[in-house]
Amino acid sequence: MMKNDLQKIYNRFAKTYDKNRGLFDMTEVINDFYRRLSVHSGHLLDLGCGAGEPFPAFFIQNGWQVTGVDFSAKMLELARHYQPKMKTILADIREIELPHEQFEAITSIYCLFHIEHEKHEEIFRKIYRWLKPGGLALFTYATNEYTGADIFNGYKDFMNEQLFYSHTTPEKLTAILESAGFKIESFQYRNIGGETFLWVTMARP
Ligand SMILES: C[S@@+](CC[C@H](N)C(=O)[O-])C[C@H]1O[C@@H](n2cnc3c(N)ncnc32)[C@H](O)[C@@H]1O
Repeated sequence: MMKNDLQKIYNRFAKTYDKNRGLFDMTEVINDFYRRLSVHSGHLLDLGCGAGEPFPAFFIQNGWQVTGVDFSAKMLELARHYQPKMKTILADIREIELPHEQFEAITSIYCLFHIEHEKHEEIFRKIYRWLKPGGLALFTYATNEYTGADIFNGYKDFMNEQLFYSHTTPEKLTAILESAGFKIESFQYRNIGGETFLWVTMARP
């Protein structure tokens, strides 16, 4: 896939995506993550923040400072509309660099599976560096339950668009996270809105 294809698709269907976003009930996943945090104020980084839902909205309501990163200018326009308090950065997660030990929490919801799994290790190492010691991260990961293959690099239909998805096995993912220094806190398959993904919570000790 050309580097910018996914970016173009998200720019094109930002409004449709936004209209359908409420179909996914994220209450349980948000509550579970929030309960696990050792602090209840600070700075959240949301990678692939889209329209600023659902994590940025929840954290802003709870008094957190929130920074969202996305490479779709149209999604960020929606984010600035819905979450004017959120700081937005237009950038590719694969390329962005941020100061170390800045964030109490980092989330990447329904996003990393759009990035080649060969790049994930480098991204997890960055997430580790950006988290403060004691900080917590949560991300959604695709597996066989979604793509039908143990290791996948290909396209699947989502809202009538062919989107690129990528993942390796949960075993290889665990090895990558542990070698980056993370302690895995929760490794849970969840069916939300009819789609099953693996939700991983991990701590920087
Ligand atoms: C399925 S949406 C999820 C948005 C939001 N996290 C949510 O849960 O509603 C995926 C988002 O990730 C962004 N994205 C995908 N790959 C990216 C990359 N390499 N760098 C930055 N953003 C990316 C897309 O532009 C899109 O806004």
